[in-house]
Amino acid sequence: MNPTLTTLMAHRSIRQFTDQPLTATEVDTLITAAQHAPTSTFSQQYSIISVTDPKKLAVLSDITGHHWLKRAGHYFIMVADQYRNQQLVPATATTQANLHSLDKLLAAIFDATIATEAMVTAGESMGLGSTIMGSILNDAQRVIDLLDLPPLTFPILGLAMGHPAEQPEQKPRLPQSLMHFTDGYQRLAANDPTLMAYDHLITDYYHQRGSHQRDETFTHHIISEMNRDPQNRATILTALQHQGFLTH
Ligand SMILES: Cc1cc2nc3c(=O)[nH]c(=O)nc-3n(C[C@H](O)[C@H](O)[C@H](O)COP(=O)(O)O)c2cc1C
Repeated sequence: MNPTLTTLMAHRSIRQFTDQPLTATEVDTLITAAQHAPTSTFSQQYSIISVTDPKKLAVLSDITGHHWLKRAGHYFIMVADQYRNQQLVPATATTQANLHSLDKLLAAIFDATIATEAMVTAGESMGLGSTIMGSILNDAQRVIDLLDLPPLTFPILGLAMGHPAEQPEQKPRLPQSLMHFTDGYQRLAANDPTLMAYDHLITDYYHQRGSHQRDETFTHHIISEMNRDPQNRATILTALQHQGFLTH
């Protein structure tokens, strides 16, 4: 073990924070850590918006349903961004086809996502805690309007960061034999005993944890996730196309 591995392996999402805001230096350090993350084709195709206006934080808490985000020490929105690079290239048929393509959308999403995790880990190494929020996509268009996002940008994740006021139990992850394979994909067997043992482990975790106790296996969790009404996120493609992605 070393300090980096200790930090990575101690991860848990934090949803309760003290009143202490992040300092400007802490925010600067987190952004710098994000900037040192790998970036596809060195195109740095993402931006980060610090949301400080209480009215905007209130809208984001409505969109995500996470009203505790207003008590975070700082709130970031991670933006997939081809807009800035579009300003740098002469508009030709080729550059337009590239900028609006699935390939470049994915690259921007990769960049923003990898930067997000760099901030999570950097924050944890500084004694901070955080929760990533995909739930800003409950109403992507409203986030776009709220933050005045230009064409070829898209908000992909929120990130609430602050000084932890809780120390939740760690969520046990899948046994490695179910997710790390050698030289090819290992298909899941019916009634796989390793998965059944993991289901029991997750049931025990949910029974024993300090808050939001429930009676649920991992399999039940996935079944309920997959039974959510897909219409709730059906507007994502419309919002993406409205921003100019996937139009060529
Ligand atoms: C892409 C992504 C989106 C997420 N969105 C949310 C979210 O909207 N709300 C939330 O409370 N947690 C969110 N999370 C946090 C996960 O729920 C959390 O990582 C997972 O339950 C595992 O728990 P842990 O991070 O404490 O180990 C998100 C995590 C990721 C990676």
